[in-house]
This record gives sequence, structure tokens and C-alpha cells, in this order.
Amino acid sequence: MTDIRPEQEEDIPVIRQIHEAAFGRSAEADLVDTLRKENAHVLSIVAVVDGAVVGHILFTPVTVEATGSSQEILGLGPMAVMPHYQRQGLGAMLIEVGICGCLLKGVCVVVVLGHPAYYRRFRFMSSDTFSFTSEFDVPPDVFMVRELHAGYLQRMKGVVKYHPAFRSSV
Ligand SMILES: CC(C)(COP(=O)(O)OP(=O)(O)OC[C@H]1O[C@@H](n2cnc3c(N)ncnc32)[C@H](O)[C@@H]1OP(=O)(O)O)[C@@H](O)C(=O)NCCC(=O)NCCS
Repeated sequence: MTDIRPEQEEDIPVIRQIHEAAFGRSAEADLVDTLRKENAHVLSIVAVVDGAVVGHILFTPVTVEATGSSQEILGLGPMAVMPHYQRQGLGAMLIEVGICGCLLKGVCVVVVLGHPAYYRRFRFMSSDTFSFTSEFDVPPDVFMVRELHAGYLQRMKGVVKYHPAFRSSV
């Protein structure tokens, strides 16, 4: 049986193990822990299969900074699924439930830095058709955006800035 639910305190050690196993290094696990300590976990959701936590997705606050203005939206990531449980639709479930959670919070736009071929499946689009850029030097198709309320992106411009903790892992 599969359940998608909010992170609970007892999940913290296994969330760390999921990121370490999926990415094959500790940078993303460290980032998730730092963001939690700094209260930047706006939405933290886990996938549970037969009682075992095997997947995790995080949404953190990001700001779109332009001259004289700053707007807050959410960034998707990091996310990870235990290697043995990948390609079974858990990543898709985590993203769709996470996006619903963003909608319920009144979030209008979500951004992601990630694999274009994967996130396009979830209606994320390359950022280069809009008037905002990433603070990171990444190709525009790696910095993607999904509009949750129609028309919002037309009015949004500036540089998208993540929590400073991302600077050491992107
Ligand atoms: C990315 C990840 C979370 C997807 O989880 P998942 O549960 O396997 O996702 P789903 O089952 O919903 O989707 C699997 C599909 O995504 C594809 N996919 C996974 N990673 C991909 C990538 N880097 N680029 C393109 N496609 C990718 C798989 O090939 C698979 O395709 P298929 O359905 O045609 O077989 C998981 O592969 C993972 O933990 N990867 C390592 C960590 C990582 O890269 N996290 C994302 C950072 S941006």
C-alpha cells in the first residue's frame, strides 16, 4: 500500500538516507537538514510503501527580486526516491501531491532546477520564455517554471533567489 503524507519528526533520519542513496552523495541530505533547521521547509512530503518511507519531496521559499520589488514563490527540490523504488510512479505522486499542496497555500508559481525531460512531464516549462532568470549559471531548460494560476507569469520578472544553503549544492 502506498501513502503520500506530510513529513513527521520520526521520518527525519530515513529522509536523509533516501537522499544519500538516490544522489550517491551527502550534499542533498545536508541541504535538506539545513533547510529544516532554518525553517525553510514550507512543504515536506514523504512517500510510504508498505509502512516504509522511501521517497521525499521538499518545497522551499524562493524570492523573485526585481528593482524595488520582491515576490515570494516556491521552489521544488530536493526530491529523491530510494533506488529500489524508482520508476514506479512515486516521484510523479510526490510532485502532483506537492503541487496540490502549493495550490492550497495560494502559491501561484513553482520553479525547479532539474532534469528537463523529467519535469516537462509535470507541465514545467523552460524559464527562457519568461522575464525571469536564475541566480545560478544553469541552462534555461534546467531552470523551469510551472504556473499554477493563469496569467501570473506574464506579470513576474526578476532574478529568482533560493535560500543561501542551495549555493553550496547547486
Ligand atoms: C528523479 C526521481 C526522484 C524520480 O523518481 P521516480 O519515482 O523514479 O519517478 P517516476 O516513477 O514518477 O518516473 C520515472 C520516470 O522518470 C524518468 N527519470 C528519472 N530520472 C530522470 C532524469 N534524470 N531525466 C529524465 N528522466 C528521468 C525515468 O526514466 C522514468 O521514465 P519511464 O517512466 O519512461 O520509465 C528519482 O529518479 C531519483 O531519486 N533520482 C535521483 C535523485 C534526483 O535526481 N532527484 C531529482 C533532482 S532534480
